[in-house]
Amino acid sequence: ENIPLELHKVRIVQKLHLVSVERRLEALKEGGFNTFRLSTKDVFLDMLTDSGTNAMSDNQLAAMMRADDAYAGSQSFDRLQKSVEHVLDKKYLLPVHQGRAAENILSVAYVKKGSLIPMNYHFTTAMAHITDKGGQIAELLYDEAYVINSSCPFKGNMNIEKLEEVIRTHGAENIPFIRMEASTNLIGGQPFSIQNLRDVRAIADKYGIRLVLDASLLGENAYLILQREEEFRNSDMATVVKAMTGLADLCYFSARKLSSSRGGGICTNDIKIFKELEAFIPLYEGFLTYGGMSIREVEAMAVGLYEVLDESSISQSPRFIKYLVEQLDSKDIPVVKPAGVLGVHVDAMNFCSHIPQQQYPAGALAAALFLISGVRGMERGTMSNQRDENGVEPMSDMELLRLAVPRRVFTLSQIKYVEDRLTWLFENRHLIGGLKFVEEPPVLRFFMGKLAPL
Ligand code: F0G
Repeated sequence: ENIPLELHKVRIVQKLHLVSVERRLEALKEGGFNTFRLSTKDVFLDMLTDSGTNAMSDNQLAAMMRADDAYAGSQSFDRLQKSVEHVLDKKYLLPVHQGRAAENILSVAYVKKGSLIPMNYHFTTAMAHITDKGGQIAELLYDEAYVINSSCPFKGNMNIEKLEEVIRTHGAENIPFIRMEASTNLIGGQPFSIQNLRDVRAIADKYGIRLVLDASLLGENAYLILQREEEFRNSDMATVVKAMTGLADLCYFSARKLSSSRGGGICTNDIKIFKELEAFIPLYEGFLTYGGMSIREVEAMAVGLYEVLDESSISQSPRFIKYLVEQLDSKDIPVVKPAGVLGVHVDAMNFCSHIPQQQYPAGALAAALFLISGVRGMERGTMSNQRDENGVEPMSDMELLRLAVPRRVFTLSQIKYVEDRLTWLFENRHLIGGLKFVEEPPVLRFFMGKLAPL
């Protein structure tokens, strides 16, 4: 009954390699014990991210063949615009090469020294672009969001009382926008409710502040609203998606996640916002009808956006995640609960309770799991944090090993393999040791930094 059935068939396959443990140890050493630095020729199951790795559909691939390559005025862009209007209910679209490019443009346009951006929680690239322009962020989740073993359905909700308090103390004039992230990534892919978004909207209106929605994981947040929010129990994806985007002045997204393609976009119904941002597209991205993307990707995105409304496609990853979370939880392996989206999030603070946070328990767990299984996850903890202006490394609220389950990529037996290997590692967790940086880049250090065992 709780078997997550695949509602698709596999028609194109890619061969995987399960290399020896000796080779995996070599690969770890070569890659500075950082899973971002591994080559897929050494990786068995790549659970690093869902970004650009969700399976594409037959219709997306077919659409790519009719790409209308033109520097300006491409018909492919017209199709994308129509799809954005249909699915996200926004008339004006600014194309960008990926999600962080949208974050750069929003920050260039609206953030300056002294600006404060309230958000439910940060995402690494959003924060990096805001602080790069001299702004600061304020994270305003409810306390329940930080509880690993929780049954709270909407851990991504913004704390409304705190939001109003922050606006009062900081001054609405210093708050260019409020940022709400759908399926809040770094706390375990946890959704917010429509009711919460309405409450945020009411505060935004009261103080005349723009509301920005990071819609990169919009489909999954909408799916969980259908599952968990009473008011929408008998609703459908299209209605919920529109209810969400309709509450925001502006939505931006990484299409690498949202629509199983590449690229990204910023969309709005407000011509004033569109005009404020428009000039930055040719400056940073490319002409206004391709925004740094290949036209083939524009076509894939146009089709992929419609597929966001297909519950059987969007639900596949959350259902596999739920399955794995329940299996691990039944063996007392600490994982973020309730099961969210994007991946399974293992609580490394608890799994590796013998490793202090300064020694990056989640990074150490990621390296250890790769060594014993060939499964590549991603550290989402202190290693992924950036140092403050005084060079101090803030300890992360959570130390998570994220095992991404990209949409329609893995089979259930592969998921069972992950369960089996994690169970072994949990029983032998005393073997895992801490890490230290030996090469630490100044910006987004987790991507290319090199570490070594202590
Ligand atoms: N916003 C969210 C919520 C994201 O998860 C990401 C990327 C971005 C923005 C930036 O988009 O990568 O296209 O520039 N998340 C990826 C991940 C990298 O692995 O979680 P991008």
